[in-house]
Amino acid sequence: MKPLAIKDDIYWIGSVDWNRRNFHGYSKSHMGTTYNNYLIVDEKVTLIDTVAEEFWGTLKCNIANVLGDRKIDYFVINHLEPDHAGCLALAVEKYQPEKIYTSPMGQKAMMAHFHYKDWPVEVVPTGTNINIGKRNLTFVETRMLHWPDAMLTYCPEDKIAFTNDAFGQNWATSERFADEVDRSKLEELMRNYYANIVLPYSPVVIKTLKALEEMNLDIDTVCPDHGLMFRGEDCAWAFKKYQEYAEQKPKNKAVIVYDTMWHSTEKMAKAVASGLAEEGVSVRLMCMKNNHHSDVMLEVFDSAAVILGSPTHNNGILPLMADMLTYMKGLRPQNKIGSAIGSFGWSGECVKVLTQWIEDMNMELVEPVKVKHVPDHDTLSQCFDQGKAIAAAIKAKLAE
Ligand code: FEO
Repeated sequence: MKPLAIKDDIYWIGSVDWNRRNFHGYSKSHMGTTYNNYLIVDEKVTLIDTVAEEFWGTLKCNIANVLGDRKIDYFVINHLEPDHAGCLALAVEKYQPEKIYTSPMGQKAMMAHFHYKDWPVEVVPTGTNINIGKRNLTFVETRMLHWPDAMLTYCPEDKIAFTNDAFGQNWATSERFADEVDRSKLEELMRNYYANIVLPYSPVVIKTLKALEEMNLDIDTVCPDHGLMFRGEDCAWAFKKYQEYAEQKPKNKAVIVYDTMWHSTEKMAKAVASGLAEEGVSVRLMCMKNNHHSDVMLEVFDSAAVILGSPTHNNGILPLMADMLTYMKGLRPQNKIGSAIGSFGWSGECVKVLTQWIEDMNMELVEPVKVKHVPDHDTLSQCFDQGKAIAAAIKAKLAE
């Protein structure tokens, strides 16, 4: 994809990675991603972020396409993760910038990644302003959104915020702006990205949004480093969505996440789902044999209640559930009700193990149900009632 002028003398020069499927365990099938980076052509030509190393050739072409033989004076590095800083060492060598601006934590991460000796790095804590000619750039640290080094770069003259990972979506497209694509798809992918990457840092999101509001920045273009950019009223839409995601308010929805050996736990899951649906709760059943943990996490993020199911296996739970729970706990979902179901043959630890996970994730526990071998009518009826009890807990939570 060729460079795109997003304002006078400001260009998107990113790369589209149609084949990317996995970011540290987060996978959104068939969607790919983009590594957005930007070039500002002013008295001091400024490059904002780079791209993943395998796109070094594309980056060089895009820069040459915009600049011809003109040099780059400044680099701004908002985040050191290799999908954005992967070409940094190559770019420093080729373009020999006068300055490399990064956050205080960015400088530490840059040293730890590149072990550089004589790079012209200048640390820019929050509030630092630099002049690049007709424009100024102001830096705002966004620590732990989602790495300690993250920062945002704001250009007041053009009302642009370069937000790095924040407001991103993993979606490889030929379109560049949010107003050019299907809104519901965009929202789903932005939510998916949030649920699988940003979620543990929700308190930081709330604090950062408040700080940005207090700084009263006039923003009419939001440029994340992944996916579509936002312009005009879509900027406020993106900020509002992040506020909503970060608050994690419960919805009238439950997800049953389970694995099953000989279908007993699955029968129990279906009975719990019937009890929930009977009380008007929207419910999803997700068997770990058929669903990726990233897709499950999106449903967990949206749900007021999470019901975990596994038979007892080798005195514990089935491995796909252990994988899911490790992933889920790390993402620290808040404000959830939890419950457990499971069948067993002899030792019967499954429900105890699942309950421990529920407690470790600070979920409000609704009485679990376990069944020896195969559920009969009475035990399925018990599961149905468990679904109704979870529905009542959801209603109480929604009323808080
Ligand atoms: Fe898109 Fe944290 O890298």
